[in-house]
Amino acid sequence: MCDLLRRLKEFGYDVRVVPTASALKFVGRPTWEALSGQSASSDIWEEVQDVPHVAIGQKADLVIIAPATADLMSKAATGRADDLLTSVLLTTRAPVIFAPAMHTEMWEHPATVANVETLRSRGAIVIEPSVGRLTGPDSGTGRLAEPASLASVCRAALEGGSGSADLAGRRVLVTAGGTREPLDPVRFLGNRSSGRQGWALAAAAAARGASVKLIAANVDLPEPAGSQVIRVETTSQMFDAVLAEAGEYDAVVMAAAVADFRSTSVANRKIKKDDSGNVPEPIELVRNPDILAALGEKWSQSPTPVVVGFAAETISDEQDREAVGEAKRAAKGANVIVVNEVGVELGFESALNSASILDGSGVVIHVPQTSKEELANAVWDAVIARLPRAERGTEFPAG
Ligand SMILES: Cc1cc2nc3c(=O)[nH]c(=O)nc-3n(C[C@H](O)[C@H](O)[C@H](O)COP(=O)(O)O)c2cc1C
Repeated sequence: MCDLLRRLKEFGYDVRVVPTASALKFVGRPTWEALSGQSASSDIWEEVQDVPHVAIGQKADLVIIAPATADLMSKAATGRADDLLTSVLLTTRAPVIFAPAMHTEMWEHPATVANVETLRSRGAIVIEPSVGRLTGPDSGTGRLAEPASLASVCRAALEGGSGSADLAGRRVLVTAGGTREPLDPVRFLGNRSSGRQGWALAAAAAARGASVKLIAANVDLPEPAGSQVIRVETTSQMFDAVLAEAGEYDAVVMAAAVADFRSTSVANRKIKKDDSGNVPEPIELVRNPDILAALGEKWSQSPTPVVVGFAAETISDEQDREAVGEAKRAAKGANVIVVNEVGVELGFESALNSASILDGSGVVIHVPQTSKEELANAVWDAVIARLPRAERGTEFPAG
């Protein structure tokens, strides 16, 4: 969590650490104070002149409890306030995110399950823990989400987020990364997509309470917090994975950069140059299945899933780019299309992005150069506007 603190500071946020007494047995107060540049008291009887048990919660724009122990969630669920952190939870009206970490047995215990349900019913976000190595030699559900992905969830909650769990109870499917079409056992046709925009969409959806599945092609980023990840490599594999599941979701957001073509043949052995100066046979290409068009064809007339496509265009004129994007949206039968300009310095591999969001109504939402999390929130706003209203999620306050 020192790493999480560092990342939040690097985003420019003012971070106050409120450790529990037990937390200080793992990492000492001087570490928190040096990294945050602020007092890191855990005691309501310190600095009483500032009334910290009220002031800290009132001042916060966001509270994240990471790692959230079984004990802390139990206290939060019953409204205990016997130390500084639990008092903050009662005084804050900001969004509250719990990032649980514990052994599988503790996570699955009916008491913990009930506490998580109570916290969620009040509008708190409880991130699903990861599956993986736990404190001891064992593995299972209950591993704390990766610090980098928790930082992304915080950023999503703070930048363009709705401040509410308005995707609670919703299931969303997101594709991310760039597909690779093999030429031989070691070479492929690919693209420069890093998967960051898809990861940010997952973080933003998790920060708004959704249950998220990511279908990721060749992404080398820390596991996203609270999302289940299915790994694929090629467009055909992504097509199969998306089409098999899309109907079970409220929204499908296709942020992956998929190869439109693949080679007609894949060599069994590495293609070699020889000494005669010959060049290999030209690569013959064939069209890949169009995932967005297949989704549009199947679901454009139903309220869910809301189908969102991304159109990465190398057209610098905004109006021309949007016209191409809208034509693509209509042709594919997508509900919403997110059009962005890509180029050597733009879009791919960067932490920033800008885009226009078009939903066929003629209204265009322009999102100027900003964090990928903020753009992700604008996309979810467009999705939520199209979801059947009655089933919308809970409002904060949450603590
Ligand atoms: C080495 C060690 C690791 C622990 N790991 C966890 C954990 O991952 N999750 C958890 O809920 N409790 C864990 N505990 C138990 C908590 O520390 C204990 O419940 C404590 O009372 C929590 O206090 P707090 O909720 O005020 O921080 C661990 C204890 C020890 C000694």
